[in-house]
Amino acid sequence: MAAMTRKLFVTTALPYANGAFHIGHMMEYIQADIWVRVQRMRGAEVHFVCADDAHGAPIMIAAEKAGKTPQAFVAEIAAGRKPYLDGFHIAFDHWHSTDAPENHALAREIYLALRKNELIDVRTIEQFFDPVKGMFLPDRYIKGECPRCASPDQYGDNCENCGAVYAPTELKHPYSTLTGAKPELRSSEHYFFRLSDPRCVEYLKTWTQDGKLQPEVANKVKEWFAEGDDGKVVLGDWDISRDAPYFGIEIPDAPGKYFYVWLDAPVGYLASLKHLLERRGVDFEAYLADPALRQVHFIGKDIVTFHTLFWPAMLHFSGRKVPDNVYVHGFITVSGDKMSKSRGTGISPLRYLELGFDAQWLRYYIAAKLNARVEDIDFNPDDFVARVNADLVGKYVNIASRAAGFLAKRFAGELSADVGVEGRALLDGLRAHSGTVQQLYDEREFGKAVREIMLLADRVNEYVDAHKPWELAKHEGQRIGAGPPQADGAPSAGRAAGAGGHGSALHDVCTVCIEAFRVLTVYLKPILPALAQQVEAFLRVEPMGFADAQRALGRHRIGAFQHLMQRVDPAQLERLFETPTAPAPAHPGGEAIAAEIAIGDFAKIDLRIAKIVLAEEVPGSDKLLKLTLDVGEGTDAQGQPLTRTVFSGIKSAYAPEQLTGKLTVLVANLAPRKMKFGVSQGMVLAASHADEKTHPGLYVLEPWPGATPGLRVR
Ligand code: 2FM
Ligand code: ZN
Repeated sequence: MAAMTRKLFVTTALPYANGAFHIGHMMEYIQADIWVRVQRMRGAEVHFVCADDAHGAPIMIAAEKAGKTPQAFVAEIAAGRKPYLDGFHIAFDHWHSTDAPENHALAREIYLALRKNELIDVRTIEQFFDPVKGMFLPDRYIKGECPRCASPDQYGDNCENCGAVYAPTELKHPYSTLTGAKPELRSSEHYFFRLSDPRCVEYLKTWTQDGKLQPEVANKVKEWFAEGDDGKVVLGDWDISRDAPYFGIEIPDAPGKYFYVWLDAPVGYLASLKHLLERRGVDFEAYLADPALRQVHFIGKDIVTFHTLFWPAMLHFSGRKVPDNVYVHGFITVSGDKMSKSRGTGISPLRYLELGFDAQWLRYYIAAKLNARVEDIDFNPDDFVARVNADLVGKYVNIASRAAGFLAKRFAGELSADVGVEGRALLDGLRAHSGTVQQLYDEREFGKAVREIMLLADRVNEYVDAHKPWELAKHEGQRIGAGPPQADGAPSAGRAAGAGGHGSALHDVCTVCIEAFRVLTVYLKPILPALAQQVEAFLRVEPMGFADAQRALGRHRIGAFQHLMQRVDPAQLERLFETPTAPAPAHPGGEAIAAEIAIGDFAKIDLRIAKIVLAEEVPGSDKLLKLTLDVGEGTDAQGQPLTRTVFSGIKSAYAPEQLTGKLTVLVANLAPRKMKFGVSQGMVLAASHADEKTHPGLYVLEPWPGATPGLRVR
């Protein structure tokens, strides 16, 4: 087994502060969080931090569009992070921002050290400038005609039609996507980090190839060291400055010049750590100077260059500690599709929680799929249901419920002190796997760890099936006879101890089950922290680390068993998938807010939760669906629920079978309207753009889970 690391500084990539988290973020956080919990359960001292990546042109532009200062914009994004992190049990010690004072100071300090080391160059470059906006344009805001195939509206760096790669200045008829203006070439001074310096090249050649990186990552990185004409290896210099206006950190002694966002972003790792340590009264520089400290970054495969070339070079040549490991993961696809919000294949993590799904199902599923390589993993709904229901609940969670009832009823919750040869053999067998399980976790082979643990769970279930506690209970029930139960239903402790102390097979088997369940709980605790906590409460034990799996509880009284985890309802699962969204209009809805009304005006509209009992096509209509709605208006003489008929112009957006069984909102006091196909008794609410032709997309409203037909919306 790898030597235990005692001090760890661990990070995940800092997400841009311009949007909500998607499932890809959650996967990375879950991966790192599991790893961190493993290290803590092995006794390591870990500082696990993250932050919002606040700077850069896209965030500046998004803030402007939203009519906010960039600071207010990113603060709002930051305020929305907590429900995701808490909801999925991600235990960061601190969440910071790259716009925080610590980061400004550290980024400048590092830059000045690099400058002192003669690794900064100033050069004049030519770049496109938007004369209307008054700013230099990042490539992504320039479009034009492909210089090779003349396809219109191609991005500044490559053509989606013919695949040509070019510089933005080669585009024909270029325009700024921000204003439509024709960009002008202008020159400006830029600051460069001289990565081509032989010192950097030599250093990075070693740093990237000495075991800090996964083998496939190290190989990929090798390709970036190109050979120059003279046969010497070279790296390109890195442009680290941007001209005002820019949301970022101003470069010392260079008014109007800012650090490119990717210069100060990774510095945010240190800024976040510094803030945390200061809060805890620990000296930041001394902490980092400890040779025993290991610095680990979890990142996605799209940002490897920044973390394996620029970042270690920045740190090393400014005289700082460099990362000990950069662990790269792949992307997550959903049913084989690359996640995309507009195509509707994304899973919204918040919706997942709002639907009442257990966060630990996803943690378990992701863990079961992850390995140490840079492979993409796939979220497959059927596979998700199978693994959670059959493995997690079926094999593991159920072990506890199979034994806990008998222990409580027959033995007052007291475990047997000795469980006999066979039981001991089973438990020793489970305990013997602790080293392997820990090692697999430590190597980020989570899928293998889960498989190993499930094989152990199989053994326990075989043991239960072979010893049939339910039959032992019948048999012993007759033999011993049920003593008069106490008020709480438990037999008197005296009888329980008597039965337990002198060779009750039932007692032994149930004790083995509970001990086995406890060992498996320790092994799964990094993945299922909340469940493990419930188990600890139920077993009346202190928070468990890996060492606790090695010893038996002996004679110990456990608490009352409480239901630990639900199965996934496959029917619920489809609700998880976001419905495809139409391309965002320039002005959301394209429509001004209507004139003000008084609350009394609103109260006149009676909005009710309605259940769509049936949705059907309307023969002869290509716009309408006929909805039969239950609005909680009681039953008729035959006891059938009274329903209403509503004709709704939503056929373009929904197939009838998508709607049947769903809840929605009905305007219940609208005067009935006679239509060609019948009388419509109300109106169902749906959102759409004012101009449905240019912005198709229609979205029927649906209440959050728990609402019932007839409830008034107020
Ligand atoms: O790719 C991204 O989402 C970046 N915001 C990651 C930054 S990681 C670190 F360098 F801050
Ligand atoms: Zn082309």
